[in-house]
Amino acid sequence: MSENPYLLDNRTIIVTGASRGIGAAVARAASRQGANLVLVARTKAALEALAADLPTQVRIVDGDVADTATAERALDAAEELGTRVWGLVNNAGINPYYHPAMDTPLHEWEDVLRVNLLGAAIFARAVGRVMVGEGGGRIVNLGSIAGLTGLPNIGPYNASKAALDALTRTLAVELGPYGVLVNSVAPGTIRSEMVEGLLDANPALAQRLVAKAPLGRVGECHEAAEPIVFLMTDAASFITGQVLVVDGGRLAAG
Ligand SMILES: NC(=O)c1ccc[n+]([C@@H]2O[C@H](COP(=O)([O-])OP(=O)(O)OC[C@H]3O[C@@H](n4cnc5c(N)ncnc54)[C@H](OP(=O)(O)O)[C@@H]3O)[C@@H](O)[C@H]2O)c1
Repeated sequence: MSENPYLLDNRTIIVTGASRGIGAAVARAASRQGANLVLVARTKAALEALAADLPTQVRIVDGDVADTATAERALDAAEELGTRVWGLVNNAGINPYYHPAMDTPLHEWEDVLRVNLLGAAIFARAVGRVMVGEGGGRIVNLGSIAGLTGLPNIGPYNASKAALDALTRTLAVELGPYGVLVNSVAPGTIRSEMVEGLLDANPALAQRLVAKAPLGRVGECHEAAEPIVFLMTDAASFITGQVLVVDGGRLAAG
């Protein structure tokens, strides 16, 4: 353990969905604390631009998280960096559809579950094996308050996030004995490309979300990213199997 339990020197963290939004903010925050990074997403140019801006060693992997080959390439990239494979942030996610669950076509269910749930499971399986071999590590899955409530019109998204929390608990139990700590971070409404699209299309929804939030505003990407990075640090060495809600008090308001 380093003298400062918040530092991440000599450790590599793999961040999926790092080309923008919360994932890019996680990359910035983790790099600032000393972590080397493997950044994964489909948009290579955005990953390259971010990598050029970070103070630590970075490799980029352009690919689909639901493809097992992408996870293998991420591990190869981590090996090139030479520092210990310490962290995985399963952040890649999509929420592109907006219909009542009863009217949601099967292919939309498949799209959302494939990226949000299967992608995270593929990365956890591949990277978790390496962590077990190295004597420990950290996995954070991006849940959502959508997985803890019944927000209408985004049924597959809600289900994917609730399932991720269940995966978090399962992995925490199975991998705890090997020193791998696994948690979910469940943001409320955070200003990112994903949410801007949804809010622009539904001003009434935007109004409702903010009206109920005790802090009276949506969150910024760095406000979701910092707690994720905290869970990667030695300061969080006794936290596993949890869902950390980062929503400005929105759920507490009922
Ligand atoms: N923003 C919120 O209010 C909020 C609230 C709760 C939870 N979350 C969760 O936080 C995470 C990040 O959300 P965000 O708001 O930052 O969204 P965003 O701005 O839309 O970013 C999503 C990221 O995921 C990547 N991605 C999407 N599909 C992918 C795929 N098949 N393979 C690889 N990468 C993929 C995107 O990159 P490419 O397009 O380049 O592949 C992008 O980097 C998601 O899991 C989301 O569900 C967000």
